[in-house]
Amino acid sequence: MTHQAPSYHDLAGWYDALYESTGKDYVAEARTVLATLHEVGGAAPTSLLDAACGTGRHLEVFAAEVGEVAGLDVSPEMLAIAAGRLGPDVPLYEEDLRAFDLGRTFDAVTCLFSSIGHVEDETELDSAVAAMAAHVAPGGVLLIEPWLTPDRVVPGGIRKLDHAQTEEGVVARAVTSREDGDHLVIDFGWAVATTGGVATLEETHRLPLFTRERYLAAVEATGLSAQWRDDVPGLTTGRGLLLGHRDPGGPR
Ligand SMILES: C[S@@+](CC[C@H](N)C(=O)[O-])C[C@H]1O[C@@H](n2cnc3c(N)ncnc32)[C@H](O)[C@@H]1O
Repeated sequence: MTHQAPSYHDLAGWYDALYESTGKDYVAEARTVLATLHEVGGAAPTSLLDAACGTGRHLEVFAAEVGEVAGLDVSPEMLAIAAGRLGPDVPLYEEDLRAFDLGRTFDAVTCLFSSIGHVEDETELDSAVAAMAAHVAPGGVLLIEPWLTPDRVVPGGIRKLDHAQTEEGVVARAVTSREDGDHLVIDFGWAVATTGGVATLEETHRLPLFTRERYLAAVEATGLSAQWRDDVPGLTTGRGLLLGHRDPGGPR
């Protein structure tokens, strides 16, 4: 069982401002995702589930373009922000990516911004991919923006500082990473200053570095045909895309 990063709970209210400050372009990313879904599936999706949807920034664009959208996330605090953004017409489920059953399928299931990296090991990777694939309708597409593959880790790790200002106050996040075998260990030091004073939080993410082949095998094991794409422009992370396509005549 992976730890649930405290910042997705205690600091959810600062998430959007922080990534806004890094220049992350959710609108461009969502459009790229929709174009890729159309291309791989052969038609524009008319229903879409965003797994690990966070605060719903991609879903906001999907909701305007796709007939029916839904989201799920394990953090109620992130979902509360998504609900405020998306309104009552978008169902949001507090569910764990590694084991969920919404009892229906979608033309597209997405899992973006490397949220899949929060699984602990290969067993959990397979469970999460299987749970998402089970929600893909015949002819539909699974699209996962993977976490780093081993060849994409910056030697020596990274050190960086992100910070943002809102009406509530300021947030800063110092980051350092290091490789530890087949994991990347990332230490975060957060500081938030409001009229109530300064609050700090330290957390460590230990994220597994799966190879492309291992990611592809996880998708193939679900019965979807898998492909890896590095040629998709417009995604901020540049980590490529893992895709699965369900045969139109296939099960579910
Ligand atoms: C990096 S954020 C990405 C959120 C959103 N997709 C985005 O692009 O901004 C990772 C998200 O994964 C969620 N998450 C982590 N572990 C999860 C799990 N086991 N099941 C569902 N969501 C999970 C976190 O709560 C968080 O919202």
